Amino acid sequence: MSSLSNKRIILGVTGGIAAYKSAELVRRLQDAGAEVRVVMTHAATEFVRPLTMQALSGHQIHTELLDSDAEAGMGHIELARWADLLLIAPASADFIANMVHGRADSLLATIYLATPAKVAVAPAMNQAMWAHPASMDNIATLRQRNVNVIGPDDGIQACGDTGPGRMEQPDTIVTTVGSLFANGLLAGKKVVVTAGPTREALDPVRYISNHSSGKMGYALAEAASEAGAQVILISGPVNLAIPPNCQLVSVLSAGELLEASLEAADGADIFIAAAAVADYRAKAIAAQKIKKQDAGMTIQLERNPDVVSTVAAANSALFVLGFAAETENVEAHARDKLKRKKLDAIIANDVSRDDVGFDTDNNEACWIDADSTKTFSKRSKTQLARDIIEHMVHRQSL
Ligand code: CTP
Repeated sequence: MSSLSNKRIILGVTGGIAAYKSAELVRRLQDAGAEVRVVMTHAATEFVRPLTMQALSGHQIHTELLDSDAEAGMGHIELARWADLLLIAPASADFIANMVHGRADSLLATIYLATPAKVAVAPAMNQAMWAHPASMDNIATLRQRNVNVIGPDDGIQACGDTGPGRMEQPDTIVTTVGSLFANGLLAGKKVVVTAGPTREALDPVRYISNHSSGKMGYALAEAASEAGAQVILISGPVNLAIPPNCQLVSVLSAGELLEASLEAADGADIFIAAAAVADYRAKAIAAQKIKKQDAGMTIQLERNPDVVSTVAAANSALFVLGFAAETENVEAHARDKLKRKKLDAIIANDVSRDDVGFDTDNNEACWIDADSTKTFSKRSKTQLARDIIEHMVHRQSL
């Protein structure tokens, strides 16, 4: 599996002779599996034509902050939320200073301020500019803010000088970017994630189910795997690719989900219940297709087992994280579920909204445990999953 598979990267290109290397960088990032969108400052367009970057990335290039056409498509805030990583390469001395001061005078600067994604810069400038205390201070400030600084490389520069200040080579940037997604937070841990809907058969052709897309559970499985865990993903029927390095167990009904969960949870450290389990199933599954009748019909339903609370009760040492899909009084209902199901923590989300939750790419959620609450503002499910994993590791070690 490629090091950047499924990663969404905004490549920010600022003005400098090294901008020509960004064209190569787009290709290298794509080769590693990333989806790349390019944002250029005006100065960058003096060095490389947007058309070149457009042809390479296969997408429209974003340059303008105030562009009604672009805002009607993927606007700047939407773009900022879409990304898993904002990679600014080359990052000029001027743009780095802009970042330090939080200026929002270009599309790229605005995206930097708005994105919840990881940020990396590959500085490129003359060696004397790089060595200047102002540049050194600026870079130190960015590092303190968790901006990853890649390079610069040392060698002969376009201006004829020799020294540090050349943009790092595209291959090295891609390798470094890949390592940013790997953290050892869950190294040596076994994590079980349930995801997607369950299907409860009525007859050989019909079933009861729900709108769960499985995206949140799959994103959590991927984030746990990125964090170094051994991951078993138990999934209902969904239309998603198996995340890298996760072991998939496919199930249909809540009964099958329970059986697979109890088996996988044995010896596991963490159980994440993101599946949208049907609470009821047909009392009897008809052996043949049910024929319609003139009158209406009634289907007798009976309760399904509660998977997450059964798993929690059977494994006292397991850290169990549940989900609460709510349409009203979100936090209060979720807190109630946390206690009732004897979970260690629960992620509450509002499934009444169109822009987040079920069957969308974004989510907004709230982590609730016995004595704390943390809200995660709207972001991609991929990013939210990483943030949840990080928060979980932090809370667990308290
Ligand atoms: N869950 C479960 N087994 C069930 C129902 C739910 O394991 N039969 C788990 C879900 O995976 C989730 C949590 O319980 O982690 C809460 O799911 P949710 O659908 O929000 O709650 P319900 O218990 O179904 O409560 P209600 O439908 O009354 O809101």
